[in-house]
Amino acid sequence: MSALSSPVSAAEVAAVRRPVDEASLLPPRVFHDPEVFTYEQEAWFARSWVCVGREEDAADAGTYLLATIAGEGVIVVRGRDGQLRAFHNVCRHRGSLLVTEPVGQQVRFQCPYHAWTYELDGRLRRAKHTDALIDFSLDDHGLLPVDLQVWDGFIFVTLEPSGTSLSDQLTDLPGHVARFAMKDLRRARRIEYEVGANWKVIAENYSECYHCPGVHPQLNRLTPYDQGRNLESNGPWAGGWMELVGDADTMSTDGATHGRPPLSGLSPEDERRIYYFVLWPNLLLSLHPDYVMTHQVWPLDAERSRVVCEWLFHPETMARADFDPSDAVDFWDLTNRQDWRVCELQQQGTRSRAYVPGRYALMEDMVHAFDLMVADRYADDGVVSRFAPRHDKWRSDAHRQAGKATSIVAPRSRTG
Ligand code: FES
Ligand SMILES: [Fe+2]
Repeated sequence: MSALSSPVSAAEVAAVRRPVDEASLLPPRVFHDPEVFTYEQEAWFARSWVCVGREEDAADAGTYLLATIAGEGVIVVRGRDGQLRAFHNVCRHRGSLLVTEPVGQQVRFQCPYHAWTYELDGRLRRAKHTDALIDFSLDDHGLLPVDLQVWDGFIFVTLEPSGTSLSDQLTDLPGHVARFAMKDLRRARRIEYEVGANWKVIAENYSECYHCPGVHPQLNRLTPYDQGRNLESNGPWAGGWMELVGDADTMSTDGATHGRPPLSGLSPEDERRIYYFVLWPNLLLSLHPDYVMTHQVWPLDAERSRVVCEWLFHPETMARADFDPSDAVDFWDLTNRQDWRVCELQQQGTRSRAYVPGRYALMEDMVHAFDLMVADRYADDGVVSRFAPRHDKWRSDAHRQAGKATSIVAPRSRTG
């Protein structure tokens, strides 16, 4: 139970928490109501482990990045001792912001107001004209630390540790993706988008390909919307894969890898699949045979989000003279923009006084999995929703008649 009081009652989300073939979608006000947004920021984003970047963003001593979580600025910096640390971006004197550039390199941090200076490990080094103060010690006025942990090259921080470690939050996800060795990958491209949609609209959109034939004809040619399967999950994540068909070897403008070898450690099966994972609350991982794409979804307000999309490749591949990621980047940039358009349409349509929550199509059970994470947290009643797998109902009738059986197993429990 959270100390904060949820503005959405268990009764209001009861219809979401039914089996997927009986459930209704989230109540529309959760996409628009500023009070709901504030609660999510405080109760969820401030108290979860949230991915803020990659280790390579702070690779050398003094390199740092800034993140904003639930409205709070956090500095992530590599110390001279090689340690990554995180601090609140607040001077201990009169509380000025310490750093304003989103990324950079510093020997130490100097406050722009009265020039108190802090070491990279957070210790206060110099504060002019404080020598004669009574009961004042530099040692007591270091930067305020924020908990930080790293998984597979991804930096996570949490503003208010709840006693849940990052591995508690990730639960059984790492085992599903360890062979991709994401720690070894490096970013080739990054594109930021501002989307006129609530962050949950974007996570829901990512979680299904029911919309793919109409919205993404290019994507649907490479991985048809109805060929895939979801994974069983024991935590606050949902995921599955889709199958590459025909000559397609990856997701790119022409389906070709353009000489990029598969990531080491992948099985022949992996080389014919794209894996998609939603990690609570806001990291989306898309694992391709030859690269990994990530989305961080940052809520700006109830109606807007900033999405940071990055493309990660193996450094040996990036070192090749002919390396050019634009076929992968252009493909997903197009796909992203196709998605943002329908997300914005949903954002606008769900404002209508006439809209009542619709029903999940059975291909949208991963949307349901995400919405259950949301609904359980609104309800805040300690109940963890479980799915019953719907082996029989996911595919269209035509597919079932053709005997192409599949099984879908959705999250059964979670922590964090
Ligand atoms: S507020 Fe930072 S030195 Fe005064
Ligand atoms: Fe999409």
